[in-house]
Amino acid sequence: MGKSGSGKTSMRAIIFKSQLAADTRRLGATIDVESSQIKFLGGLRLDLWDCGGQDSFMDSHLTAQSSTVFRAVHSLIYIFDAESTELLTSDTVYFLKCLRALQDQNPTSSAPQPPPSPASASAPSPTSTSAAVTSSAGNGNGGADDGGPTVFVLLHKMDLVPVDVQQSKLAEFEAEVTRKARESGYKGGLRFYGTSIWNETLYKAWSIVISHLMPSLSSLRSHLTSFLSLSSASEIVLFERTTFLVISSVTNEDDAKDTEWDERRFERISTMVKAFKLGCSKIRSPFSSLTITTPHYAAVLDALTPETYILVVAREPASIELNIRLARPHFA
Ligand code: GTP
Repeated sequence: MGKSGSGKTSMRAIIFKSQLAADTRRLGATIDVESSQIKFLGGLRLDLWDCGGQDSFMDSHLTAQSSTVFRAVHSLIYIFDAESTELLTSDTVYFLKCLRALQDQNPTSSAPQPPPSPASASAPSPTSTSAAVTSSAGNGNGGADDGGPTVFVLLHKMDLVPVDVQQSKLAEFEAEVTRKARESGYKGGLRFYGTSIWNETLYKAWSIVISHLMPSLSSLRSHLTSFLSLSSASEIVLFERTTFLVISSVTNEDDAKDTEWDERRFERISTMVKAFKLGCSKIRSPFSSLTITTPHYAAVLDALTPETYILVVAREPASIELNIRLARPHFA
């Protein structure tokens, strides 16, 4: 949800329909609600509702359609336009109304709280060229939680905010919106992220959202950890096949200590591979796997199951492909 033009359909088009960011300029306004069912990791079905943000639709979501839109919600992803002149006024008022509706429609919800995200949510370096991504209230760092639906708040279009003030803008926004939410009586957690369709921050935030929806993340992580140690790999990352969102990752901390690894490497890989796959499909040469070798490391990105891709990074390149092949039946 979010006000009209904040970028909801653009995100959906890029992540779930593999469209290019530039093509989102041609998107029209969403009428009422566009719901899509996305098959995810085989057995899972993600029901994604893109709620049109024009005032008349917002009013309707909050009144006549309130029980349809807000009942049995697992996660609400609310998008704010960072450039809006009404960010902390009318935009926030609508957000607070949505929180109220969410609380009213899910009064006795006992949904589990989010597990720690597989991707680090730490702040980027001040020299970074893309939007800051942080999260705090509600994920164990301070916000109150009542076990209800999780609310992700995306301060979007951060590419339009000067790089040197992105971090502070997000922090001030988070503090102010959290304060207003508490004052209005909302007791649940809020998780804030800065995003833009023009860089990998979009993938970072959505990887966190998606991994939060996964029911068996901890078990998957423990299997990946075993694979990491059995194959003497330095890092293993699991991606969902269509969206290329990061589902989980494990890293050999001793290897990570030796080298300065980019803390945004996972979402950067998501962005690059997605663009590369799109290029491959344009020349009718479907993407199957990718191998990169450097003097110190080798990386192989290959299909693991019909729904996932695995990236294995290791110092010893010879056995990576064989290890992935041997691991397939185990993860099937
Ligand atoms: P409604 O359907 O009316 O609710 O709007 P919406 O929230 O779905 O907005 P939509 O995705 O249609 O995006 C509106 C415009 O914002 C498009 O021209 C997008 O290209 C642009 N846009 C989306 N995300 C970003 C972003 O991260 N940065 C910038 N600069 N523009 C963006």
